[in-house]
Amino acid sequence: MRFFVPTDLRIGENIVRQSAASFAELGKRCLILTGAHSAKACGALDDLREVLRKQQIDFFVYDRVRQNPTVSMCLEAGLVAAQMHASFIVGVGGGSVLDAAKAAAVFAANPQIDESMLYDYMWTRAPLPIVCIGTTAGTGSEVTPVSVLTDSDGRKRSIRDDRLYPALSLGDARYIACVPQPFLSSCAVDAAAHCIESFFAVTATPISHLFAARGAQMLAQLLGKLDSVDAAQRESLYLASIYGGYAISVTGTAFPHAMGYYLTETHHIPHGTACSVFLPAFLRHCAAHDPQSVEAFAAQTQCSIPAWIALLQRATPDCPVRLTASQIEALRPRYVHNKGLSRTPGTFTPDDAVQIMTDLFAS
Ligand SMILES: [Fe+2]
Repeated sequence: MRFFVPTDLRIGENIVRQSAASFAELGKRCLILTGAHSAKACGALDDLREVLRKQQIDFFVYDRVRQNPTVSMCLEAGLVAAQMHASFIVGVGGGSVLDAAKAAAVFAANPQIDESMLYDYMWTRAPLPIVCIGTTAGTGSEVTPVSVLTDSDGRKRSIRDDRLYPALSLGDARYIACVPQPFLSSCAVDAAAHCIESFFAVTATPISHLFAARGAQMLAQLLGKLDSVDAAQRESLYLASIYGGYAISVTGTAFPHAMGYYLTETHHIPHGTACSVFLPAFLRHCAAHDPQSVEAFAAQTQCSIPAWIALLQRATPDCPVRLTASQIEALRPRYVHNKGLSRTPGTFTPDDAVQIMTDLFAS
């Protein structure tokens, strides 16, 4: 059993301003990765700029990160960082931005590598230090060594390496107040997916169980109240997302994430929704193959499995995807030798995956 999460994680109101000295320790020049709007609207980017100016740290803002970031975009950002001789990278935003910051940190230190070398871990130099400032509650990327990117074939593929753990992650739940409600829900069910998949994963440990169960217990209290979230609930949502991050940093995810990627790649369903639509089937599968763990999960989260399914379905908008039988059958190769499927308890075969796709999306 191993538990290794070397990130300096700090959570609290005004935590970015309070951490000014820690930025100075990372160097005199940095590249900031962010999206087009949210980090600006929620005040996180202004907080960061003020801190960097006071610490006399030069910076450039690369604000071209979009949902489901591509490897080529991360390479572009990494080259910008290399050209400006940045000594660290800061990601300010949701999961897409934080994951992009990790990959950009690899490219900044290794500007000669291409996409295939990135995925083959042919990095001769360690990535630049990474700072994550999360502005959503869901991804957990603040405390994971994983970056999920869209490759040149349009497929979501991850890199996972201990050197991708952020050096510093700062969470201020006030930033979440600006997240529009449908996106807040999608992020919250992403966090739930992390906790639930991790709890039942065959790779789970006693330590990952603690984080997964506590995160899921908190989310069971919150998922039914996402229409109107107050400051205390935002803090709980953020903390639950971090617990989910710790859990999957140990276990990885299971079939809902593995199967959800297709819905995002091809049908542009937001990541959290794309995963959570599979969670009821995942819970039923676990109940059939690992009833003892299901009982323990219901007890530890103080929520029965039928109540969990009702909560998840209520928090997950309709997924307007309809597929023909041949379209579903064409997905079968994705399910062969798939890591996410192999972490699912019991026997979960490509036939099972095809059946679930048919049950959910057959036209
Ligand atoms: Fe996720």
